[in-house]
Amino acid sequence: MKTILIIGANSAIAKATARLYAQEQCQLYLLGRDTATLAEQKADLEIRGAASVDFAPFDATHFAIHEAVIDQALDILGHIDIVLICHGSLPDQSLCEVDFDAASEAFKVNALSVISLLNILAQKMQQQNNGSIAVVTSVAGDRGRQSNYIYGAAKGMVSLYLQGLRGRLFPFNVNVIDIKPGFVDTPMTSHIKKGALWASPEQVAHCIVKGIDRNKPTVYAPYFWRYIMQIVCSIPESIFKKLKF
Ligand SMILES: NC(=O)c1ccc[n+]([C@@H]2O[C@H](COP(=O)([O-])OP(=O)(O)OC[C@H]3O[C@@H](n4cnc5c(N)ncnc54)[C@H](OP(=O)(O)O)[C@@H]3O)[C@@H](O)[C@H]2O)c1
Repeated sequence: MKTILIIGANSAIAKATARLYAQEQCQLYLLGRDTATLAEQKADLEIRGAASVDFAPFDATHFAIHEAVIDQALDILGHIDIVLICHGSLPDQSLCEVDFDAASEAFKVNALSVISLLNILAQKMQQQNNGSIAVVTSVAGDRGRQSNYIYGAAKGMVSLYLQGLRGRLFPFNVNVIDIKPGFVDTPMTSHIKKGALWASPEQVAHCIVKGIDRNKPTVYAPYFWRYIMQIVCSIPESIFKKLKF
């Protein structure tokens, strides 16, 4: 029976992923801000087959509690087979351009809190000598675009961190998986007009579970974003800087 820790468990993508792990009869530990929603999830996941579901409140920006929260999860799970870090926020790019507090908050939620958690988790997983660490970043981290480079820079920071962490934990049998979704129809993007490239949280969840199972270093979700981002990254800067997207 696999043990799974999900951080940012109330996100639509995390919920869909938890449902897949429940079907595999895993033992789950959920961390999220809203305990009422976590309690609803617990009931739903247990009906779907989860061996057990525990949860605790967690605000990612309260760095001081990170270690205690992870220790509490380890006490219940005994051992972490898979940790999925899924929390995040889509900042208002225009506001961040003129208000450093807003930009700083975006980096805190999307990058620094994740790095704080990873610093702690890396030590614990290294001691275990096995397990998988999966983090939801974004295709936005692959290249800075003028319309969302604050979010992109935060996600890109985490992706670079994960590259280094992967090498560091390789001798200890710990896999590090960077999940890069494209456009996903979730509460985070409810205000954005949808189009052909949009995926559901369920589609992304399948990519996450498969990517972790196969120990892929980087998972584009859905897969076609790998090719889209290859094209985006190959556009010369002299042209790219003129593109209004
Ligand atoms: N949707 C997309 O198009 C897309 C694309 C690429 C990557 N992603 C990434 O996918 C991940 C999941 O997002 P989603 O699309 O599933 O959106 P979502 O349903 O809006 O989930 C975002 C989650 O992050 C949590 N969160 C935000 N700030 C937090 C904090 N300070 N402490 C703890 N939790 C916090 C929110 O908690 P509350 O429920 O309490 O508000 C929410 O559950 C994020 O990392 C996002 O950046 C999304």
